[in-house]
Amino acid sequence: MSDLKELEEKIKKENLLLKDNAKNLVFGKGNPKADILFIGEAPGAKEDELGIPFVGASGKELDKLLQTIELSIEDVYIANILKYRPPSNRDPTTEEIENHTPYLLNQIDIIKPKVICTLGNYSTKFVLANFEVSKMKEIPGITKLHGKIKQIRNYNVFPIYHPAAMLYNPKLREVLKEDFLKLKDFLNQSSLKKTE
Ligand code: URA
Repeated sequence: MSDLKELEEKIKKENLLLKDNAKNLVFGKGNPKADILFIGEAPGAKEDELGIPFVGASGKELDKLLQTIELSIEDVYIANILKYRPPSNRDPTTEEIENHTPYLLNQIDIIKPKVICTLGNYSTKFVLANFEVSKMKEIPGITKLHGKIKQIRNYNVFPIYHPAAMLYNPKLREVLKEDFLKLKDFLNQSSLKKTE
């Protein structure tokens, strides 16, 4: 599979878990040639409605955080662990993660990002477990891992709190901002800031 569009069409035809209750596949958005890939958790109601990730309240926060470090959607690609919305936005199950993440891995293979920013616990655990769902439980929570670069395979992995976390806990707003500034420093040092 060499092309994101082709992959999206393929997933639409698969009978993934959660598909029956969802309105739309939420595949991804942004620049397929970006060096920076953000991975969230799962679509919410607005994302399900529009078939686009991060367009609701968390998406607005993510846009603002990107703006603070002078990045736009043209510089990044954004996808999720789950491709369909879980009912009532409940947490993803292990079976759903196992069922959906092969497609996330396909997306990563196509995009070939240099930096993967994981947003929140699920994507952080999945990526830091070397993309193995069965090892996710060995990975500590985001509180211990955020703001620190790790290497997994050829990727620089930068875990960040999920932007939704600061909507529930306003104290995390500053932590998220600081982590985005650290991300900016890392991108500048590695000359990865803008996608041509
Ligand atoms: N939260 C996520 O993790 N992903 C989305 O697409 C929207 C909200």
